[in-house]
Amino acid sequence: MIYTKIKGTGSYVPKKVMTNEDLKQFVDTSDEWIVSRTGIKERHIVTDEFTVDLAEKASLKAIEDAGIDKSEIDIVIVATVTPDNAFPGIGNLLQGRLGLERVMTFDINAACSGFLYALEIADKMIKSGAYNNALIVGAETLTRLTDWRDRNTCVLFGDAAGAMIISKSDTNSIKDVICGSVSDSDGHLICNNVDIKDPAVNAVSVQDHIHMNGREVFKFATRIMPKTIRDLLERNNMVLDDLDYIVAHQANERIINKAARDLGYSMDKMFLNISKYGNTSSASVPLAIDEAIKTKKINKGDLFATVAFGGGFTWGGAIIEL
Ligand code: ACO
Repeated sequence: MIYTKIKGTGSYVPKKVMTNEDLKQFVDTSDEWIVSRTGIKERHIVTDEFTVDLAEKASLKAIEDAGIDKSEIDIVIVATVTPDNAFPGIGNLLQGRLGLERVMTFDINAACSGFLYALEIADKMIKSGAYNNALIVGAETLTRLTDWRDRNTCVLFGDAAGAMIISKSDTNSIKDVICGSVSDSDGHLICNNVDIKDPAVNAVSVQDHIHMNGREVFKFATRIMPKTIRDLLERNNMVLDDLDYIVAHQANERIINKAARDLGYSMDKMFLNISKYGNTSSASVPLAIDEAIKTKKINKGDLFATVAFGGGFTWGGAIIEL
């Protein structure tokens, strides 16, 4: 039987910090509103870096943390909704930056659940016996898709990347991963691609920005996160008390609070770093797991669950022993 484990983690955020106070230059808002409704105090935003730059910096840290040689990596998967190009993908660009040869690289788009999708794919590819070490990354420059005039959305997002090395293991560390999707046919959370071009009408393509019906997304999130945790526990004959920690997608502190209440789980064991970074989409989960490990909230031998939801709608979760 082939098992898998997390061998190393790393993360990176751009230097520039935008506080809630700074946002008042662009929209009618206040620190009090943003903190009380979301828990966000500040976020990091790119000024001269692209998604691949963030991905590279997080990946180098994960590789160093794993203590492996780059040449041992045989799959690269990048979860992102903000690739720098239509093609080539960030995975391919990242391979070039890292100087990797003979690897399979690809990107996936599952919005904020993307990293869980990457984890599920890497986990199963390694368990198939065909691969040994996967570099999986969640990297986003979501502020490039932000409408800085829309106070309903611009206060929520930040830029970041998180990376992990997932490797073959003798012990059953990554115990289970589940992912799912349901069509958001009403378009509650959507960002269109560049528009259709009729040279007689609109000769220049325009990139859309994020549109969100916050209340509908909130309802979906607070339903699916506890359900995913319960499904994972049931599938693995575990109970909530078996978990030492839960690392949820950092979209809104109120969503995490409500999920914890619904599950009957202590907020002391729910990881939170949203106040510093905002919602960094597919980077949120690996950024949070890296910080939870580095700050010793999750320690060797601990059993933790991670869970995310995102546009699509998508969701994913995992139970992992560190
Ligand atoms: N500052 C001040 N007032 C604001 C702001 C702001 N930044 N934004 C909205 N308001 C106002 C609204 O205009 C509204 O005013 P009105 O009553 O006069 O119309 C009032 O505040 C209440 O607005 P609501 O939308 O009801 O506020 P709510 O409590 O629902 O919080 C929020 C909004 C924070 C967006 C919440 O709905 C939420 O977190 N939803 C989920 C968002 C999310 O997780 N999205 C994931 C995206 S990730 C991805 O996949 C890209």
